[in-house]
Amino acid sequence: MKKKILITGGAGYIGSHTAVALFEAGFEPVVIDDFSNSDKSAVRGIEKIVGQEVKLYEGDCNDVKLMEEIFSTEGIAGVIHFAAYKAVGESTEHPLKYYKNNVGSLLVLLETMRKFEVSDIVFSSSCTVYGQPDENPVKESTPRKEAESPYGNTKKVCEDILNDYVKSKAPVRVIALRYFNPVGAHPSSAIGELPLGVPNNLVPFVTQTGAGLREQLTVFGDDYDTSDGTCIRDYIHVVDLAEAHVKSIQHLANKPATYFDLFNLGTGEGNTVLEVVKTFEKVSGESLKYKIGPRRSGDIEKVWANTDKAEQVLGWRSRLNLEDALRDSWNWQLSLKEKEKMS
Ligand SMILES: NC(=O)c1ccc[n+]([C@@H]2O[C@H](COP(=O)([O-])OP(=O)(O)OC[C@H]3O[C@@H](n4cnc5c(N)ncnc54)[C@H](O)[C@@H]3O)[C@@H](O)[C@H]2O)c1
Repeated sequence: MKKKILITGGAGYIGSHTAVALFEAGFEPVVIDDFSNSDKSAVRGIEKIVGQEVKLYEGDCNDVKLMEEIFSTEGIAGVIHFAAYKAVGESTEHPLKYYKNNVGSLLVLLETMRKFEVSDIVFSSSCTVYGQPDENPVKESTPRKEAESPYGNTKKVCEDILNDYVKSKAPVRVIALRYFNPVGAHPSSAIGELPLGVPNNLVPFVTQTGAGLREQLTVFGDDYDTSDGTCIRDYIHVVDLAEAHVKSIQHLANKPATYFDLFNLGTGEGNTVLEVVKTFEKVSGESLKYKIGPRRSGDIEKVWANTDKAEQVLGWRSRLNLEDALRDSWNWQLSLKEKEKMS
């Protein structure tokens, strides 16, 4: 029998790619999503890639009754918890909305897992917990900084909840994954990032500008202490990221009854914003309209990952590079345009 893995937020950007990776590794994903930041086309996209139907529950993972129904019906073997709100700016305007959804859903999930004796959980954390690190590349042992936003704080609080819970000797095995900057799309272009409204992240903004949907890109600041003055991030292909979740679920299966660990997921390399622009122009053949604007408050100057721990412990490292990611993002953007024309 295939092991069933519950994916909260499984219709979202990273969740949908992880569903594909789980199918391909012989698991049976079960998705719960309330479609607050995604739509059903992602579920159809997963089905198109794997040629199988996705078991989908439409609803809120803060809903105790629904969660208990899923656990009692499905026989869940482990959970990957993606569901959360993630817009940094919005979180400063509506902090309670963020704490309620991001922290509340983790508590409901842990209590349901306890009730149904499910032990394994992989949690989506973020490199945002490091703030501006004193040294790069940043290791997991690097102290976390005070969060810059309520969103960032929800990730710190959730890591702490999981850690405290494990320290209490609860029968739970936990991996927290600190993602750097997820980019790219599935090479089939059947799934990818679907930002609602104006994208908050660089790459969707770049591809939408390339496609003529946005007039031009604003690069926030070119006077940072980096090679070309623009900010540095570690851009990790979402397909690589998805594979790390499969490795994590497999890793937990061999661990003692009470276990906690956390891992950086990045490429181990940083790229400036202008390098992203140049690489996009190279892979797309488009020339991108951009202007340099003032620095944006709250932006970190530079951060990239040391990924040795994930390689040594999980046997995972990224295989795809920035060119691969931008090519896949661009093809995804073009496919969205095609779908729009046909509808
Ligand atoms: N994308 C990034 O840059 C990034 C970086 C670091 C960490 N993360 C974390 O990774 C996780 C996944 O991110 P993503 O980029 O795939 O985001 P996403 O918004 O594309 O996916 C999240 C999914 O969860 C769903 N959802 C939200 N609240 C829900 C609820 N209460 N019940 C059911 N479904 C709910 C949304 O509809 C969406 O489909 C999040 O926890 C995010 O904070 C993302």
